[in-house]
Amino acid sequence: MITEESFIDFKCPYCGGPVSFPRECAGFVQACPDCIESLIVPDDGSEIGKAIPLPINTARLALRRFAPGDWKGLQELFSDEELFRYAEGRPLEEEEILRWLESDSHIKLTTPGQVFCVAIEERETARMIGYMGLNLADPHRLQARLTIYLNRSFQRKGFALEALDAALGFCFEGVKLHRSSASCDSRNTAACRLFENAGLRREGEFLKDELLHGEWVNTVWYAALAEEWGADRGAAPAS
Ligand SMILES: CC(C)(COP(=O)(O)OP(=O)(O)OC[C@H]1O[C@@H](n2cnc3c(N)ncnc32)[C@H](O)[C@@H]1OP(=O)(O)O)[C@@H](O)C(=O)NCCC(=O)NCCS
Repeated sequence: MITEESFIDFKCPYCGGPVSFPRECAGFVQACPDCIESLIVPDDGSEIGKAIPLPINTARLALRRFAPGDWKGLQELFSDEELFRYAEGRPLEEEEILRWLESDSHIKLTTPGQVFCVAIEERETARMIGYMGLNLADPHRLQARLTIYLNRSFQRKGFALEALDAALGFCFEGVKLHRSSASCDSRNTAACRLFENAGLRREGEFLKDELLHGEWVNTVWYAALAEEWGADRGAAPAS
């Protein structure tokens, strides 16, 4: 039987409007029906829902939403053809980057069918050096598919591992996801090593399942479940 106790009533941390969700949603990410911002349903009796825990600060990095001033860093990142050697896409023109930034500013973590992007910033220089994509593709919003792109000048310094570790902390501790996965072309040694170093479990390899730049290539899948991630891991909370 559905009673009043079956629901949690609280205020949206963004618009302040009254929100009500079934008790099973406690601690999970949902969209505010009024302002459509993504929020976390309180699981501790709070009167106000929790905001999405961004930015995330790690020892050397900040993971944050993109800002209009990031166009230059994005232009540098996306002008490098090598970035797309093992990944879909192509270098983008300035005009396309500006359009991408504008449309990204409207995307929330819970926007259906869209990838929620966070910029990877080197804190010491405040420079945008890459980005992570989080796609909550399953209908319950309890699984994320992660992607990561790093400016070549900043690769092989462990930044990608630091960013991915923080993103996994966000997924499992920040928004209580059930499972996070990542995939790459099987020839992409850097990505395979990165996913293994981050503690993701290799789930399998699909043979010639992707047509990439005119060639059928194999895809390797990696994943972690919340119970595998463990409560004592993850990045420092936002400061
Ligand atoms: C995947 C990517 C983010 C890794 O970045 P990175 O800065 O090299 O990552 P890390 O410094 O954390 O190192 C990852 C591991 O790969 C290794 N590695 C990095 N580049 C390599 C290369 N070209 N060949 C072989 N190994 C490489 C590193 O030595 C490290 O392994 P180790 O711990 O055994 O030493 C980066 O290569 C990239 O942006 N690639 C283009 C986009 C992409 O393919 N993304 C993955 C699919 S979503």
